[in-house]
Amino acid sequence: MADYDFDVLVIGAGPGGYVAAIRAAQLGLKTGCVESRETLGGTCLNVGCIPSKAMLHASELYDEAASGKLAKLGIKAQVELDLDTMHGQRRDAVKGLTGGIEFLFKKNKIEWLKGHAAFTGKDTVQVGDRTVRAKNIVIATGSSVTPLPGVTIDQKVVVDSTGALELPKVPGHMVVIGGGVIGLELGSVWKRLGAKVTVVEFLDQLLPGMDGEVRKEAAKIFKKQGLELKLATKVTGVTVNGDKATLTIEPAAGGTPETLEADAVLVSIGRKPNTEGLALDKAGLATNQRGQVEIDHDFRTSVPGIWAIGDVAPGPMLAHKAEDEGIAVAENIAGQTGIVNHDVIPSVVYTMPEIAGVGLTEEAAKERGEVKVGKFPMLANSRAKTNHEPDGFVKVIADAKTDRVLGVWIIASVAGTMIAQAAQAMEFGATSEDIAYTCHAHPTHSEAVKEAAMAVTGKPIHI
Ligand code: FAD
Ligand code: NAI
Repeated sequence: MADYDFDVLVIGAGPGGYVAAIRAAQLGLKTGCVESRETLGGTCLNVGCIPSKAMLHASELYDEAASGKLAKLGIKAQVELDLDTMHGQRRDAVKGLTGGIEFLFKKNKIEWLKGHAAFTGKDTVQVGDRTVRAKNIVIATGSSVTPLPGVTIDQKVVVDSTGALELPKVPGHMVVIGGGVIGLELGSVWKRLGAKVTVVEFLDQLLPGMDGEVRKEAAKIFKKQGLELKLATKVTGVTVNGDKATLTIEPAAGGTPETLEADAVLVSIGRKPNTEGLALDKAGLATNQRGQVEIDHDFRTSVPGIWAIGDVAPGPMLAHKAEDEGIAVAENIAGQTGIVNHDVIPSVVYTMPEIAGVGLTEEAAKERGEVKVGKFPMLANSRAKTNHEPDGFVKVIADAKTDRVLGVWIIASVAGTMIAQAAQAMEFGATSEDIAYTCHAHPTHSEAVKEAAMAVTGKPIHI
């Protein structure tokens, strides 16, 4: 490797990049990782998955106590919100986990090149005043917030997800633009802490990409929780005056405009791949129409020796998808066979109840052929009922002829945990009968997965 500085240089230390770097080092490759943030871990650990879950967990406990849910279980408490401490535990979680990645880098002898990387050639990258040459370069630069044309994010009144995690006080009225994952998770946080929350969604349903029945049921549940939903509605303007915002909205199909007054506006209409300032052209690369770096099945770009993974590459923008691609790309670079099955990537919305799915929606499965569907309500699951968590259901979609499971959708308090068995079953090519005849511990929420699988052949026990 005479004049190469590294066997592998990873650009970006998010869940895609840091995992790729660790696996490459484990495989004996000399590895460096460029990261421009002050801390490792990318969007996920710094301003995404982890801090949002810290706020979701704490606000859920607050809501259980403050709204009288605990009192119903015989637990009477005088509750007071200490938002500063809540933010403190969020920051502690981030600090602990990002520090953990720094420890893992040292343990695996990965060099962290601090600064912004830009290509200067097919195998060279400039980081600050240093130029490094690498045999393999992995682009793992992630994504950032999609701006809404004409709306300026000031991180005070008009915030993106990062600003919404850090609001110093509970807004009186928060308007969320975009009823996707971020809008519903962070909207839920501030609703639980006392804000009135209105979600303005352009489409006629929340959560695009999820199973149709799940989307409808989710809307019902969020309405019941007090979230105001304005579906099939578009925002045509936002003006800020001091610490208030005025939004102009109108039906998506056109119609009479109206205005909404807000103390905070969260813009959460999606994320876009990060390639700005990377000088991809110097490496002979270009982005596709969606701004992503195109790759083949093995994560190779069109330029030999340059690879791409995670949010910057096509596919769902999820941390576990990025991580699995990180492992696979390093294994491919090392000459092994790294594979990610993109048909079986679970997705979870961490609201209460949680919403999770893996594989095909019922709509997509029906487009491919005849299906059988089994459903089981959480209300009939003994553990959920006992825990006063009646909302939701499990739905198993199987091929009508082969019985092979094509998709599983769950709304339940612990849907994010329950979906793992569905993903594993699908990875092993399971039939609904395989799940139905697997012994599930009692009493667990997971028994609802078994019952939904039994319902595929019309034979659940408890309904
Ligand atoms: P990123 O995590 O975005 O990391 C890329 C890194 O590259 C960044 O740190 C960036 O600073 C660095 N970088 C970019 N360009 C350069 C450059 N030129 N030079 C040097 N460094 C550079 N996903 C889930 O699966 N579960 C969740 O619960 C979840 N919650 C989320 C909550 C929020 C609020 C947000 C915003 C996202 C959430 N996500 C969640 C999505 C998840 O964070 C992303 O899918 C994941 O972080 C993508 O990983 P990545 O490694 O591709 O990129
Ligand atoms: P999203 O794509 O999930 O949702 C955006 C929503 O905004 C969609 O419903 C879309 O129809 C709507 N929209 C778009 N333009 C609009 C407009 N002008 N007016 C009103 N509505 C509009 O994107 P979101 O929530 O910003 O999250 C970005 C990504 O981050 C997600 O796709 C997901 O991959 C990731 N993420 C994952 C989480 C998880 O796994 N739990 C949590 C948070 C984020």
